[in-house]
Amino acid sequence: DWTMSDFVEEAVAHIRTRVGNGVVIGAVSGGVDSTVAAVLLQRAIGSQFRAFLVDNGLLRKDEVAEVVARLHDKCGVSLTTIDGAETFLSRLEGVVEPERKRKIIGNTFIDLFDAEASKVDAAFLLQGTLYPDVIESVSHKGPSATIKTHHNVGGLPAHMKLQLIEPLRFLFKDEVRALGLVLGIEAASVGRHPFPGPGLAIRILGDVTPTRLAVLRDADAIYIEELRAAGLYDQIGQAFAVLLPVKAVGVMGDCRTYEEVIALRAVETSDFMTANWFDLPTPLLRRVSTRIVNEVRGVNRVTYDITSKPPGTIEWL
Ligand code: XMP
Repeated sequence: DWTMSDFVEEAVAHIRTRVGNGVVIGAVSGGVDSTVAAVLLQRAIGSQFRAFLVDNGLLRKDEVAEVVARLHDKCGVSLTTIDGAETFLSRLEGVVEPERKRKIIGNTFIDLFDAEASKVDAAFLLQGTLYPDVIESVSHKGPSATIKTHHNVGGLPAHMKLQLIEPLRFLFKDEVRALGLVLGIEAASVGRHPFPGPGLAIRILGDVTPTRLAVLRDADAIYIEELRAAGLYDQIGQAFAVLLPVKAVGVMGDCRTYEEVIALRAVETSDFMTANWFDLPTPLLRRVSTRIVNEVRGVNRVTYDITSKPPGTIEWL
């Protein structure tokens, strides 16, 4: 009777044989797949595996520190953080069009990862490819791929002659989560909602500025905190806040305000190809709205997105 622990043993043995004395590099995003893949490699070959986290300045509140705590401090992964925030934000200045944002972020990611990773004499590159990714890239027919370019973390820089290591390529998402638990990764990390490679840049409609990033980070953190407190987080496929490209009029005390608008999104989905908007309880929506308007400077209005996919997509960009 085959178990996840058998999978770990077999994968570890296979990785050791394949890698020998070589070095493996890999980018980690904090997402479930790259986290599980990284911990598995650490388990197999220790410090022969070197992970890189590109801080693109577009991650959520406290996310960089959390990834470092989880992967390096707790799991012993050899991890280098590449501080790219200034480079990403300066290249994104004034860019509004979503596909341009994606392209700039994808290219900048490769530039920075490449510059740092090529200092290491590596023979292998780790990728957290899952079975559905394998199928999708064989068929070339992922509907979302034709609508939006999805730049996933870990793209192979053309000139790097590295062999791919893809230990998750026969697993589905739920199996990756089970594997993560067996590897000792905490349930809260293994159960995290997916987060897109271009990060908050595709959740900010309009200009991506440090001020607007701060607004979105704070609003999103309140929303997710309340979803967790209400015990709803695990029933939802993906939930996040979006910062809209309009300002609205409001009133605070005796004063008229003219400030930013936040949209909240939550969907239930089995495969992210289609999704239904999630029927959140009204008291929760009321609490989140009140907290965001009271606690986040620069926001005076909160809306809830009641669009399914199709016709909407999950992200707004
Ligand atoms: P959409 O918005 O197309 O999203 O319904 C489907 C799933 O894909 C994620 N997504 C991305 N992931 N890079 C990524 O790595 C991207 O550019 C990107 N765009 C969307 C989205 O968060 C959802 O899980």
